[in-house]
Amino acid sequence: MRRKLVVGNWKMHGSLATNAELLAGIRAAEPFVCEAAVCVPFPYLSTCLLALQGSHIGLGAQDCSAHEQGAYTGEVSAAMLADVGCRYVIVGHSERRAYHGESDQLVADKAKMVIGKGLVPIVCVGETLAEREAGQTEAVVKRQLSAVIHTLGQCIPQAVVAYEPVWAIGTGKTATPEQAQEVHAVLRKQLAAATEHAGAMRILYGGSVKPDNAAALFAQPDIDGGLIGGASLKAADFVAICRAAL
Ligand code: G3P
Repeated sequence: MRRKLVVGNWKMHGSLATNAELLAGIRAAEPFVCEAAVCVPFPYLSTCLLALQGSHIGLGAQDCSAHEQGAYTGEVSAAMLADVGCRYVIVGHSERRAYHGESDQLVADKAKMVIGKGLVPIVCVGETLAEREAGQTEAVVKRQLSAVIHTLGQCIPQAVVAYEPVWAIGTGKTATPEQAQEVHAVLRKQLAAATEHAGAMRILYGGSVKPDNAAALFAQPDIDGGLIGGASLKAADFVAICRAAL
């Protein structure tokens, strides 16, 4: 039995004032049946950790360096994220892949570094609209996951996978529960070929998850929660999505 996980990806949004209000709103609705976490911008990690003291809501970052440490101006290491109290790190979000040219191998290397520091990588995979229309969805997500499986080896069960079809992100066009389940089943099968623990691994869906579509998505057999963008910025919406994850 997998406990569902709902993660808010705040992306580049927020301020000290709005973050405090948002977290207070979410905390007021605890406890949740699912596990919940928020992945916040780097400068706010420490204040958000303080705001979450005594709460079961986990803290995460949205990216990290694939390097251990050193002369990498502007980068943030996985060790630093562990040091400031993170539990999760999103790696390979499609916005990183698209705007920062992150390759499948770089994403896999980041996931490895995250696990090495005792944190949980949330590894994002997903096809673009053009790839879906060309019938390449399965090939694309398998290629992206394959790099992670090979790089993590026996550590693969320590990762969380997130399927985020690029065409569904921030567009209001959610994959139907059936479309999402189809891809999640492909990913689960690929994981099962690599580890006997695939049945215990969580595969999240991300892409225009809202309070009104969350329950149907989360009811699918291989959908173990969600990675939530826009709707995670409103306490009432994020809480409603967490409550839909049973
Ligand atoms: O990582 C979450 C994300 O990319 C989905 O964003 O706004 O479509 O929920 P959104």
